[in-house]
Amino acid sequence: MACRVQHSMQNSLWFLSSSRFYSTIQSQNVRSKNPKYFCKKLLSSSSFSKGVRHCSATASYTDANINHSNAESFVLTTPLYYVNAPPHMGSAYTTIAADAIARFQRLLRKKVIFITGTDEHGEKIAGAAAANGSSPREHCDSVSQAYKLLWRDLDIAYDKFIRTTDSKHEALVKEFYSKVLANGDIYRADYEGLYCVNCEEYKDEKELLENNCCPMHLKPCVRRKEDNYFFALSKYQKRLEDTLTENPDFVQPSFRLNEVQGWIKSGLRDFSISRASVDWGIAVPNDDKQTIYVWFDALLGYISALLDDKEKPNLQTAISSGWPASLHLIGKDILRFHAVYWPAMLMSAGLSLPKMVFGHGFLTKDGLKMGKSLGNTLEPTDLVHRFGSDAVRYFFLKEVEFGSDGDYSEDRFINIINAHLANTIGNLLNRTLGLLKKNCQSTLATDSAIAAEGNALKDTVEKLVKFAYEKSHSSLLGKGHAEKARKHYENLELSSACEAVLEIGNAGNVYIDGQAPWSLFKQGGSAFETAAKDLVIVLEALRIIAIALSPITPSLCLRIYTQLGYSEDQFNAVTWNDTKWGGLKCGQVMAQPNPVFGRIELETEAKNAGDSTNKASKKMNKTPKTQKAVEA
Ligand code: MSP
Repeated sequence: MACRVQHSMQNSLWFLSSSRFYSTIQSQNVRSKNPKYFCKKLLSSSSFSKGVRHCSATASYTDANINHSNAESFVLTTPLYYVNAPPHMGSAYTTIAADAIARFQRLLRKKVIFITGTDEHGEKIAGAAAANGSSPREHCDSVSQAYKLLWRDLDIAYDKFIRTTDSKHEALVKEFYSKVLANGDIYRADYEGLYCVNCEEYKDEKELLENNCCPMHLKPCVRRKEDNYFFALSKYQKRLEDTLTENPDFVQPSFRLNEVQGWIKSGLRDFSISRASVDWGIAVPNDDKQTIYVWFDALLGYISALLDDKEKPNLQTAISSGWPASLHLIGKDILRFHAVYWPAMLMSAGLSLPKMVFGHGFLTKDGLKMGKSLGNTLEPTDLVHRFGSDAVRYFFLKEVEFGSDGDYSEDRFINIINAHLANTIGNLLNRTLGLLKKNCQSTLATDSAIAAEGNALKDTVEKLVKFAYEKSHSSLLGKGHAEKARKHYENLELSSACEAVLEIGNAGNVYIDGQAPWSLFKQGGSAFETAAKDLVIVLEALRIIAIALSPITPSLCLRIYTQLGYSEDQFNAVTWNDTKWGGLKCGQVMAQPNPVFGRIELETEAKNAGDSTNKASKKMNKTPKTQKAVEA
């Protein structure tokens, strides 16, 4: 269904050695039966990462105001996306989630290094370039750039963008290969099997559908026989088994662990890590007739990304800049590479394992994974242009439980965005500011802390955002604690984090409707004073929403914050501690009421109202009619 946005304020914009890992974990005695707690420890512990540099923002994020010298580090990655085709909503999904997690960790004042990038070698990419009539290099430049542009449109504030064709990356891959070779884990052999070019993987015939079709891409696999170099994965079977048994939270969500353990138990086969028939790739050291297999190349991007351009490209320098990663965020289809191949490769090279691999679900269309190969994608650029980055980010993070699959429907998208962002939050702000303007010259009559003494709304808000980190484990897990939003963010429960913040908005609406300040103002005297206090209370709740929802909808939250009379610099300097009640002070002057989020109107409704599409797009910058200011 075609629709339009009435105004577009939206888019402003894991041992070293395994033993070190084990001993630290065990000494902390946190092999808890409770995965949630363990997860939280992994995500918040800094003891596995050393010497992480100051987060250097190469993209849109600059962390100028933060003194990071004593801060914990948090290094997270998205997959490096294949550049066979432009990005689609499925690829954007992981990155949006990663960005929200990175933003939340920055609010906790961690030294965050958020890594993303593009995977540019291999047969699939060379084939896509040839089909376009361009050279592989030109093709990669163009698609990689399309990813960067999309990340800008989606307000993705990454710190490092690695391309596997970067020379520093190539140098690191060769050094890594040589280390593994020196460790006796690479040998030469013939291999014959069925290969899926889209997966860039030899397949086990038992997994295939009729006509040897790949179950993921629904395309026939091709029979290949090659003389290749192999990685001795089978040598690492026992160590991998032990790792997962002792650190069950390495794979998240926890229900994916069984699958990984099943693969390992069924027996690990060595895999081919070079290709004789593929030119577009990194040459195998001492054998330029073969190139390194794309996965043995791309996974190293998580380490090479840590290098600054001016640094000498070697493993030691990269590792000391932030490895191991705290979190690899990936889709469930590439779990085997991240939870089996990658840890074994790292063990072979004597490097630390990442702390956690989280495999999220798929965005689906008619039950099938949305993807470039099936051609059933949703265009993220189109969605952003129509609805704004905040709407796109919010919908997919709020409505798809992180870890599970989720289907997209435009009707549901519009309903959710209108109900949550335009009404519950946007309209609450707008009508409160309207009342303040009309009755109090847009100026706060009292401190929010004083206004809310003994106030029930304040208690509700505090329970939703507060996180009293006590040493006792049970206090984190115990019932009765409603430290919802922060706990959910920490546990990567992004949908629940949104829900907790939305509850503040709902409570604010209930409060203002119950108090009816518009009539109290009319009564004058002490009723007038009560009404003025009520507005301060609601606005303080909205200030807290603006911080607590900022990892999800950063642009919208900046607009809210500036409507509350703060500068952009002040917004950029906030921390999670600022969700504490009491930020708004007496005398603070609010901005003129100006709707922060326009309702999305269906075109059919617009037509009924006599508007043409042209007119509709012209009205995009205008105040939506549903955003009426002043009275309830
Ligand atoms: N290049 C490899 C990753 C190498 S990481 C060192 C790759 N690239 S990909 O472009 O095919 O996929 C990148 C990510 O996008 C994967 O995590 C995949 O799960 C995710 N998605 C692709 N389609 C998706 C959906 N329809 N839904 C959610 N995520 C999906 O694999």
